[in-house]
Formats: sequence, C-alpha cells, structure tokens
Amino acid sequence: MSAPAGIHRVGVVGCGAMGSGIAEVCAGAGLDVRVAVRTPDALEAGRGRLLRSLDRSVRKGRLSEQQRGALLARVEFSTDLADLADRQLVVEAIREQEEDKVQLFAQLDKLVTADDAILASNTSSVPIVRLALATGRPGQVLGLHFFSPVPAMPLVELIGSPFTGAEAHERARLFVGEVLGKTAILSPDRTGFVVNALLIPYLLNAIRMVQSGLVSAETVDQGMVLGCSHPVGPLKLADLIGLDVVAQIAAALHDEFGEPQYAAPDLLSRMVAGGLLGRKSGRGFYAHP
Ligand SMILES: NC(=O)c1ccc[n+]([C@@H]2O[C@H](COP(=O)([O-])OP(=O)(O)OC[C@H]3O[C@@H](n4cnc5c(N)ncnc54)[C@H](O)[C@@H]3O)[C@@H](O)[C@H]2O)c1
Repeated sequence: MSAPAGIHRVGVVGCGAMGSGIAEVCAGAGLDVRVAVRTPDALEAGRGRLLRSLDRSVRKGRLSEQQRGALLARVEFSTDLADLADRQLVVEAIREQEEDKVQLFAQLDKLVTADDAILASNTSSVPIVRLALATGRPGQVLGLHFFSPVPAMPLVELIGSPFTGAEAHERARLFVGEVLGKTAILSPDRTGFVVNALLIPYLLNAIRMVQSGLVSAETVDQGMVLGCSHPVGPLKLADLIGLDVVAQIAAALHDEFGEPQYAAPDLLSRMVAGGLLGRKSGRGFYAHP
C-alpha cells in the first residue's frame, strides 16, 4: 500500500542524539530505515543509543518486547553512505558544521538514485539554501528540524529554501503529520527558524543572570518552572540540549543578525571550552551522573 507521502524507505545520516531518535520514530512508524555513519565505532555507539532508548520505552510500558523487536528489525546500520542509494527520503543529522553538511549533501546528490527523493537536514542553524545549492536538485532539498528527545517531542519545523519545490514540500508535510504523527510548522529559512530564534536569547539571558553571581541556576530554573509553568527551567534545558549546541546556534544567530542579545556569555564559552557540555558530558550547570 502506498504511504501518504510515498515514502517507505528512509535514510538517516549520523546516529547521535538526533539521528538515533529520528531512526527510532521512522522505524516506529513502520518504515524501512537505514542509518549511515562514518566508522564502526560510531555504528556501535549509534546502535547502543537506539537500544537504550527502546529499552527505556519497554521499561516504562510504552513498547512491548514484541514491538521493540519488530522496530529493531526495520533498522539497518551501515558505514557506507552508498547504502542510502535507494532511499526516498534521507535525513541528515551529523554534527553542526556547515562545511561537513555541504559536502555530505553533494555526496548524497550523487548517490541517491530516485529523482524525486527528498534530501532533508536536521540542522539547527545552517541555511537550507546553502545545502540545496550543494546539490543538482535544489527543488528536493528542505529542512526537517526535529526536537530532542525526538520520540517524545511532537514538533518538527519544516523549512523550505527559495528553491524547494511545492511537491517536495507537501510530501514532507504529509510525512511529518500522517506518517510520523507529529505536527509540522512551516518555518522561514533564517537562522534559528522560529523556535531557536526565540529560545536561544532566553537561554543566554538565563546564563547571564547566573554569570552575574547574584542568583543560582537552581533558583532561576525554579522561578521559570513555578512562575511560568515551564516544564523545565532554562539552565536545565541548556544542559539537555548541550551547551556546545547552544553556543553554536548563538554564534550562527549573532553572525546573521549581529545583535548583542545573541552573543554567547563568557560563562557559556568557558564551560564549552572546558568540556562541561551538560547531560552529554556528565556535567553542565548540573551534574548528570
Ligand atoms: N541536540 C539537539 O537538541 C538538536 C535539536 C535539533 C537539531 N539538532 C541538530 O541535529 C544535528 C545532530 O545533532 P546531535 O545533537 O545529534 O549531535 P551528536 O553530536 O549527538 O551526533 C552527531 C553525529 O554525527 C556524526 N558525525 C559527525 N560528523 C560527521 C560527518 N562529517 N559525517 C558523518 N557523520 C558525522 C557523529 O559521529 C555523531 O554520530 C546537528 O545539526 C544539530 O544542530 C540538534
């Protein structure tokens, strides 16, 4: 039977926090998923990340053992990008380095065979138009910006460039809504799209407040959780996102708009330089044992 967006075979490039989550939700939606990573070590790390997430879902009763097995059977891993040749949609989720992503899109363009295959990026800050122009099929390139943790977060920002074709855009919208069961909002191709353009200055202001030494991270977080009904405070959220990712998006916003509100506070820069990246490194504003 034909899927609503005509997408059955999905490729994911990179299997870190986001790539493994995207692979998980695609396989959970019954799709045939192939994940490409660069090295055998990255493959083992990515597979481990997916297994841990599925085990957590089984423990919490969100998934039966049988569903876990069926989902895993739909995910293949490879260290050869060429194994994505037959994919109808490829979602790139490698680290946030523009040159790496541009190079990858040029490679995908050469090897993905179907003319109507969609090449999507989960980038937080790289202009989609630059990725589109790295390919010979800019009409098929767009942004699919998932949120972390992917299985739990209902939103995906769908970002077209001035070159994205109406059909690719519509198929991506159907894919997010009808296949993955998430909500797509149409975001502009400007740094930060909608959500990060609003969220990052808020996180940076919270970090500046802690940097002033007048208030603790715990107090700021408590203020926003209890005073504004946010599910999590800004410093804890920054830890969950990754302080390096926050700093990278801030730098991209600052480059594009040049406004002081986007400049990374010294405290953030020093924590990143010191490897205090939040949950992923075990310590940020909080300890994450
Ligand atoms: N973490 C978040 O909350 C979040 C949210 C939305 C979007 N994003 C974006 O998703 C992307 C991935 O973020 P992440 O948090 O999963 O990062 P991560 O560091 O957890 O994972 C990155 C993965 O990419 C692989 N990789 C790095 N360079 C590569 C290359 N040149 N070719 C192939 N693989 C490569 C790494 O081995 C790793 O598996 C980034 O563009 C990030 O901005 C992150």
